[in-house]
Amino acid sequence: TNDLRIAVAGVGTVGSGLIRLLEENADVIEGRAGRPLVVRAVSARNRGRDRGVDIDRFDWEDNPAALARRDDIDVVVELMGGSDGPARHLVETALQNGKPVVTANKALIAEHGAALARLADEKGLPFAYEAAVAGGIPIIKAVREGLSANRISRVYGILNGTCNYILTEMRNSGRDFDDVLKDAQELGYAEADPSFDVGGVDAAHKLAILASVCFGSEIDFAAVGIEGIQRISSVDIAYADEFGYRIKLLGVAEWIDGQVAQRVQPCLVRADTPIAKVEGVDNAIVTEANHVGRTMFEGPGAGAGPTASAVAADLVDIARRRNTPMFGLPSRRLTAASAYPPEKRRGHYYIRL
Ligand code: HSE
Repeated sequence: TNDLRIAVAGVGTVGSGLIRLLEENADVIEGRAGRPLVVRAVSARNRGRDRGVDIDRFDWEDNPAALARRDDIDVVVELMGGSDGPARHLVETALQNGKPVVTANKALIAEHGAALARLADEKGLPFAYEAAVAGGIPIIKAVREGLSANRISRVYGILNGTCNYILTEMRNSGRDFDDVLKDAQELGYAEADPSFDVGGVDAAHKLAILASVCFGSEIDFAAVGIEGIQRISSVDIAYADEFGYRIKLLGVAEWIDGQVAQRVQPCLVRADTPIAKVEGVDNAIVTEANHVGRTMFEGPGAGAGPTASAVAADLVDIARRRNTPMFGLPSRRLTAASAYPPEKRRGHYYIRL
């Protein structure tokens, strides 16, 4: 068969969105991929759960890793989440068995991406993770392909949709933190454990991946200085407003004398800057590079449709056999990312944009 036969592990918000997207857009996708993309087998925690898409028509595996051992599967999509355990095992098993992998799992890549990319490289297999950073914004492809001739000096942005949604709603409707967080969970934006969102860890995962792609350095999640939005109150937001600022949770990575400084923290941004106007679940990424200058990418950073859109784009690449060097993480250790100097981690809330 000429079909690209897909296995999907994890059928939650993103998995259901992917199944829906592949069906609804089957014609355009086939046109661009040069062949049909078909889901053949799935695995999920709860088979019977109502998820708005019927998964009974696909082959079922109780054990996700079994998907990676099937002869009738060409590519494995990992959407289970979690930086260790079943997700990592599945990805390793797939690569060991000669199958390309597409994942939206930022925690897994932030923690183990370098080793997984080396394994993929050894096997000559695509390992794609567009959906892991900024949901629907194709920022990995944009940086790798579109900015490949530039030296990037700084990359920063709004990397967590849940936090941006909370900060936006707190300001615009005066609702309180917990109430808005519940909303974000119901809309499918938040992580399974929402403390990853509000604590800044999710943004830090994405920043570490983004920094690696921008600077060609090995991912160093442990070096990211992290502060979340838990202590931001409506009063803070109102005061910021009065002085002409918005509060945004920003991830910032800078190239400083051959080292990479990375931090995630709530920042005051002037209300008239483009990034201040990024509202709701949207994310935005600004890159500063030596020949192109400044670019900004904005779009939905979470949710079923946007995240599935990025996963499906990786599948189209694989179907077309577009392969490395645009896939995989930097396999050469150009420079190790360094810890952001601790003395600069606190009291550094103003960033000149
Ligand atoms: N929980 C994440 C967010 C989902 O809110 O941005 C997308 O990675």
